[in-house]
Amino acid sequence: MGDKIYTLAILLAILFLAKQIISYIKEARFKRQHGCKPEAKIPQWERFIGYDMYKIQVEASKSKTLLETAKWRYDTYGLTWSIVVAGRGFINTIETENIKTVLSVNFKEYGLGGRLVAFGPLLGRGIFTTDGAQWEHSRSLVRPNFTRSQVADLDTFETHIQKLIAKVPTDGSTVDLQKLFFQLTLDSATQFLFGESVSSLTSTEGSVQEQFGKMFDLAQNRLLRRTRLAKLVWLYKDKDFDIACKVVHEFVDNIINKALEKADPIDAEKSIDGTGEPERYIFLTEMLKATRDPIQLRDELLNILLAGRDTTASLLSHTFHVLARRPDIWNKLKAEIDELNGEKPDYDTLRDLKYLKYLLNECNSPPLPLLPRGGGPNGVSPVFVPKGTLVAYSTYVMHRRKDIYGADAEEFRPERWAPEEGLRPGWAYLPFNGGPRICVGQQFALTEAGYTIVRMVQQFAGMENRDPTEWVENLALTLSSGHGVKVAMVPR
Ligand code: HEM
Repeated sequence: MGDKIYTLAILLAILFLAKQIISYIKEARFKRQHGCKPEAKIPQWERFIGYDMYKIQVEASKSKTLLETAKWRYDTYGLTWSIVVAGRGFINTIETENIKTVLSVNFKEYGLGGRLVAFGPLLGRGIFTTDGAQWEHSRSLVRPNFTRSQVADLDTFETHIQKLIAKVPTDGSTVDLQKLFFQLTLDSATQFLFGESVSSLTSTEGSVQEQFGKMFDLAQNRLLRRTRLAKLVWLYKDKDFDIACKVVHEFVDNIINKALEKADPIDAEKSIDGTGEPERYIFLTEMLKATRDPIQLRDELLNILLAGRDTTASLLSHTFHVLARRPDIWNKLKAEIDELNGEKPDYDTLRDLKYLKYLLNECNSPPLPLLPRGGGPNGVSPVFVPKGTLVAYSTYVMHRRKDIYGADAEEFRPERWAPEEGLRPGWAYLPFNGGPRICVGQQFALTEAGYTIVRMVQQFAGMENRDPTEWVENLALTLSSGHGVKVAMVPR
């Protein structure tokens, strides 16, 4: 018996070794054929576990300097380099050809990594969490619901913005606009998706709506930690996260069940509140035409809520953070918006506001983590990407490349987007991602952000900065300001 086990163990070892050798030979042949050269490597004690880098990353996260650390590495080691952190190999790049390859040319060869494992308990399987055929199916269900007419419901935005304006003090006291923007985008996104807003700007403490908002935030804030744990996430017990997911699901299921009861599959146009009145566009009602599976409905709605809510709030917060410190930009923007004579803008008017567009372009770089170049001493040869390696790119650093954006790349200068300056960054400007997985909510976000800015500028004569500190990062799934946006608004 002992002999048999021994022989079996030896056989298995030989088999394992043979597999390794074959894959090594295949890799070597592939590299030779394609002229791959090794990429730059960040010096590490060992590149097996990468504990030194893990510690450095944790420290940078604590001191809120992750973005600057990444920038320093790109400045020091070039546009493409590799690193091992907590047992995982990463190739980091801000080489546009590489990013285009991953997101578009060789799109099918790359996946989302462990997103489904980390996000699954909250979001299930939807457009934001799946790959391959399942993602294609989700995308085909979701995408048609983002056409121009459906995202431009400015009357609905107006209702929410008025609630926000009502919460801004006019007696010169300080307000944190960032907090209000996160409430605003939660309210407008839930209205658009569910047909019922959670009205966090006005909801009372202890209401189911308020509870939903709180629990969604809590669950979402744990997703980054879960992503970092990767395959080991099942070892990590997080009771608060489990409870939050349950509360969020119950809230959404309740809305979906009501919609399923009311909406006749043949005539899903009818309102879900049963009045039969023609209604505003509701994403859920449209989805009911394509599927009546309650789990799929819940998953897609939550996937979009997660993808669309913080991102837009972050964009608004970045913009007002800058505006509070740059009266020159505020005045230029105000001059453009004053030409509307206080009228509410419609969709086309919004699109025609050129300076607003440049401003949003300049603000829009909240990085979301995710190769033909990068190898050899000059970084121009192809780089081999071993299976399982994570390819990451930093839009924060890429959007500050001096060779693309000019010597003043680090300055905040909306004018760089004026056509006469000739800036055409192509794949070097990716706030909304690129390729088949490009953001479906881009128009929704730009319309909401643009409309909010116009209405705020029409309402207030100016703003005073009430935060003497420098901007610091608050890097979760999206990027916002670590100290909020503390200002006083000056009434007109
Ligand atoms: C300023 C605001 C926004 C920014 C900067 C932004 C950016 C992005 C980026 C970078 C991605 C790719 C993420 C990845 O796969 O890692 C993405 C995907 C996505 N976004 Fe947005 N987004 C914004 C607003 C919105 C809004 C308002 C919605 C919906 C209402 C939305 C819905 C989605 C969806 C559903 C995806 C997944 C698409 C797919 O994988 O096929 N986004 N967005």
